[in-house]
Amino acid sequence: MTMTDPTTSAHSSVAAPRVAFPPGFSWGAATAAYQIEGAAAEGGRTPSIWDAFAKTPGKVLNGDTGDVAVDHYHRFREDVRLMADLGLTSYRFSLSWPRIQPTGRGPAVERGLDFYRALVDTLLEHGISPVATLYHWDLPQDLEEAGGWPIRETAYRFAEYAALAAGALGDRVPVWTTLNEPWCSAFLGYGSGVHAPGRTNPADALKAAHHLNLGHGLAVGALREVLPASAKIAVSLNLHLVRPLTDTPGDREAARRIEAVGNRIWTGPMFKGGYDEDLKADTAHLVDWDELVRPGDEAEIGRPIDLLGLNYYNPTVVSAPSEAAAESAEAARNDGHGDSEFSCWPGSEDVVFHLANDDVTAMGWPIDASGLSDSLVGMHRDFGLPLLVTENGAAFEDVVGPDGEVDDPERVRYVELHLQAVADAIAAGADVRGYYLWSLLDNFEWAYGYSKRFGIVHVDYDTQQRTPKTSARWYAEVIRRGGLA
Ligand code: FCB
Repeated sequence: MTMTDPTTSAHSSVAAPRVAFPPGFSWGAATAAYQIEGAAAEGGRTPSIWDAFAKTPGKVLNGDTGDVAVDHYHRFREDVRLMADLGLTSYRFSLSWPRIQPTGRGPAVERGLDFYRALVDTLLEHGISPVATLYHWDLPQDLEEAGGWPIRETAYRFAEYAALAAGALGDRVPVWTTLNEPWCSAFLGYGSGVHAPGRTNPADALKAAHHLNLGHGLAVGALREVLPASAKIAVSLNLHLVRPLTDTPGDREAARRIEAVGNRIWTGPMFKGGYDEDLKADTAHLVDWDELVRPGDEAEIGRPIDLLGLNYYNPTVVSAPSEAAAESAEAARNDGHGDSEFSCWPGSEDVVFHLANDDVTAMGWPIDASGLSDSLVGMHRDFGLPLLVTENGAAFEDVVGPDGEVDDPERVRYVELHLQAVADAIAAGADVRGYYLWSLLDNFEWAYGYSKRFGIVHVDYDTQQRTPKTSARWYAEVIRRGGLA
């Protein structure tokens, strides 16, 4: 990494960083609507699949729901002030579809849009650049009851909602992300069932994947029509950084399979003209791809976008199916995506997953920042787009000290290692434009409810009091300095 020249540095009052980031690099944090907003029945909002799923006994730990979450809907001004205190230059949040277009059909609800107008205006007043994600997993429940992502119509509904949202907010939101981690929506939502809507049908999971892709493409088209020419459009993918356990042909074949159904199922049609033949062959016994993919779909999905977002937490290590693993479902499903007797890897259910190492977060996810630099360098090479790290962060067992402070050195270490990995990728030529720490606030961690804390700001769920952790103060210093000390 090049050293910043102190005479030209914008941060000349602060010591020059040892590891500097490019000028204009976005220093961000990320959240998602259902995880933080609460106010589930206010302002005309109707239930999403996550409301329904969380209220189904046994689906979310401790029966937790996002009904109240961290009450961001009412406390957003305080939260934006916190962001400003940290010096964030950008904030990635998601729009709740059922808050803007209840039931997923018909006109937009002004009260829903007003909430986001007020949020965005407050961000802009504080000099924080908004990045809006259209879909962070909260499909209106009515659309699920009509068939959900496994039916084609849902893709068209999504594009219509995208146009409504962009029509109202496009004058003040410069960066739009269509989908967050469609892999999770399709394969955890309809495959293993550990996420909403909790269905467990491998064919439906693959159909959902295609319709999420189609929804992305249609939404890109709709956004281009509505947004000013200066607006940038992105997608956030959790591309798995897949490593074979050994260099044997069997383990390399396992890696190929997981790359196909984990990654290329998205990047193929989005950036390479279509679905790869090997992916279709691996899953041909589950879906008829010729029927599922209609003429013109792949061109629609491949509409050019401006930025590619990566959500990275850990690498994925795989090996060939084995008898020993077949006897231990636990080992076979050690993929970090939650326990289910149903697989989230349709067509490749027998591939065995391994932990990359024993240095794990509270989620049990191994800490290995080399996967982040490898991913970014590979994405730069393969797709040639400017990149954003739209999520990266870690849950740990935070303890509130007697003085009310939360000292979280493990999280500081995690973020420091991963920022160093981003810097390494930039030094290797990857055009990385920003980093969004997951998450600003402790929040509703999906099937784990409130048991896992990812925030750099602690939230007392009884009082809703926000307390910046050590990691928040450390991150603020990094931002002030423009890099790592
Ligand atoms: C990602 C999700 C995000 C958060 C983190 C920990 O998969 O996009 O909402 O839950 O994991």
